[in-house]
Amino acid sequence: MSDLSDVLARTAPLYERVRGVVPPIEWPSFAGDVDAILDLKRRRNAVILAHNYQTPEIFHCVADLVGDSLALARMAMNVDAETIVLAGVHFMAETAKLLNPDKTVLIPDLEAGCSLAESVTPEDVRLLRQRYPGVPIVTYVNTSAAVKAESDICCTSGNARAVVESLGVDRVIMIPDEYLARNVAAETHVDIIAWKGRCEVHERFTAAEVRQLREDHAGLVVLAHPECPPEVLAEADFSGSTAVMSDYVARRRPSRVVLLTECSMSDNVAALHPDIEFVRPCNLCPHMKRITLANIRAALEENRHVVTVDSAIAERARLSVQRMLDI
Ligand code: 13P
Ligand code: SF4
Repeated sequence: MSDLSDVLARTAPLYERVRGVVPPIEWPSFAGDVDAILDLKRRRNAVILAHNYQTPEIFHCVADLVGDSLALARMAMNVDAETIVLAGVHFMAETAKLLNPDKTVLIPDLEAGCSLAESVTPEDVRLLRQRYPGVPIVTYVNTSAAVKAESDICCTSGNARAVVESLGVDRVIMIPDEYLARNVAAETHVDIIAWKGRCEVHERFTAAEVRQLREDHAGLVVLAHPECPPEVLAEADFSGSTAVMSDYVARRRPSRVVLLTECSMSDNVAALHPDIEFVRPCNLCPHMKRITLANIRAALEENRHVVTVDSAIAERARLSVQRMLDI
């Protein structure tokens, strides 16, 4: 077992990546787990896929591949490792498993859920089909594999409009995020029947809050995730998936910006752009925050929690995800 000074010396280059967002006094409490995780990944031939909402010490220091839900799904298809640790929420780990039936997929905390995924059941989808016969069902990836299995095609926040328009029909059902459905409806001529699910993080942003932020911070550029209410998007300068927001900051380099999305996302993007001022209203996703360095380390040490999907469900759910990836 190395002593702390060896660990700090070995992890010093990693600390440089997060220096701007992790105070020096906190780093020693992370360094031991970071060091152990890097070693475990090598020994287990494992990769860590991390969503943009993971905390900076996970995102910048132990993850091999990072991105939004669409990028994570695409990257999961091409992973050349025996084990995938999904640092994100359960539906993301299930999607990785669907695309890698022969690999071990681990999620560090099985309770890392999602309010959108909770808002719709396979039975709801079957009832929608009966009520709207022949209308295709576009399902956000933020759902269980069992719901995906009842659907025609999946989408993410990064490709929702393209998926809806790819179907070449006048009307689609889009589940479960009501706001994403309404935001996509505002950009397309396709008629969209929405469900009533909400993201508990993004539904809290309000148009009044955006106006107040602009008043308090002159020249503020406002980027909003499409899970926010439509009135919030109407007040924003730009909207897009978490990866698209991150790219916007890198390309356009606003001097002052706010990302209306989960809190850690601003930390992760700010760590890359120390010269940009990030205004940070902090809405945390309690599910994403269940993933920690300590439980990632335990996942690799104890091979837990293995993600499984019933084979009959997996086959049909994979088709919905694959149709999306083929677009
Ligand atoms: P992205 O696909 O944009 O990363 O969004 C995932 C998510 O859970 C947003 O709340
Ligand atoms: Fe689900 Fe919202 Fe958390 Fe994303 S931020 S995982 S949509 S609850």
